[in-house]
Amino acid sequence: MCRVSRNAELQLGHLARRFFSFAAARPLTAEELDDARIRLGSDELVNLFLAQPVADQRHGYDAGLWLVAREMPSWTVQAGMLHDIGKRHARMGRWGRATTTALSWVKVVPRGRMSIYTAHGSIGAEELAARGVDARIVAYTAHHHDRRPTELTDAEWNQLDEADRRN
Ligand SMILES: [Fe+2]
Ligand SMILES: [Fe+2]
Repeated sequence: MCRVSRNAELQLGHLARRFFSFAAARPLTAEELDDARIRLGSDELVNLFLAQPVADQRHGYDAGLWLVAREMPSWTVQAGMLHDIGKRHARMGRWGRATTTALSWVKVVPRGRMSIYTAHGSIGAEELAARGVDARIVAYTAHHHDRRPTELTDAEWNQLDEADRRN
């Protein structure tokens, strides 16, 4: 009998969803782009958001909207939209991303672009901190694949984490 832990099942399911949604991601419509500009509130942040590949723009925007629907504060919406901006520096498509994630599960030490992808949280957080963004957005971006940073409450962390996983 094949025994797969519940956690491994969840991780595999998440990886598979990301893999297929990456290829199928719809670019933001003109209306969504206007909405994203308003929610981000500055050209600097809009430019960072738009520097992402289409799939990451879609993931960030949908995560942000998920938080809007739950009446979360605007800084969490911005955090949802911007938390993966560091990924673009790895210049990876879905195969590279899926391979990097799978290798991290078996503790292979990443190198080259894989190490950039693995460090996308801290790389993105540095970019945001350099632009004077709210410290809670910076902290969430740095730690979103890790543990709740002290800057966030449990409720804020749980909502952001769910927005990231569901979108
Ligand atoms: Fe991420
Ligand atoms: Fe994400």
